[in-house]
Amino acid sequence: MRDRCGLAVLVSGSGTNLQAILDASRDPSYPAEVRVVISNVPEAAALARARKAGITALCVSPAQFSGPDFDKELIRIIDESRVTLVILAGFMKILSPFFVQHYPNRILNIHPALLPAFPGTHAIRRAWEAKVPVTGVTVHFVDEGVDTGPMILQEEVPISPGESLESLESLIHKVEHRLYPKAIRQVIQKEAL
Ligand code: GRF
Repeated sequence: MRDRCGLAVLVSGSGTNLQAILDASRDPSYPAEVRVVISNVPEAAALARARKAGITALCVSPAQFSGPDFDKELIRIIDESRVTLVILAGFMKILSPFFVQHYPNRILNIHPALLPAFPGTHAIRRAWEAKVPVTGVTVHFVDEGVDTGPMILQEEVPISPGESLESLESLIHKVEHRLYPKAIRQVIQKEAL
């Protein structure tokens, strides 16, 4: 069997998408495994999830590394971890062009809307407030823009009349947890990584 692709997962929050990837990779036939988890937020619950799974989990604080040094420190850790893909899973910091160019077509992001609709923050709430009939989830490659890179997979989530924001959030997250592991597998298989 081929070696599995290493993943570096960048997080800032609860880490439910990280958890979905960790769970998928428990299957030995899944083509990827998480090698390192990095957060810019020391108290991110995602770090605890990683440590529980026996994965190296590090915090790189923007307070300690200012400006370009922050991205350089991320690159140093990621490159030392010998990974193939960089997975953004609720990472709430915009990465510099320097970082993005260091990993061409190797950085993935998940966004809780049907891009190009509702890029940026609070996408679930904004779609709900706009009363669009359908929103969804997008997994895409990261380029130098915000939520603009080439799409990998997208899945629609219809918004029922009278749907509460909380219920929509939970529907979206359920789809995310299925779609992200699937998109990672697809990239690895399509590009023979
Ligand atoms: C997800 O909704 C993802 O789409 C967005 O940030 C959220 C992260 O949630 N980019 P979690 O930390 O994976 O639970």
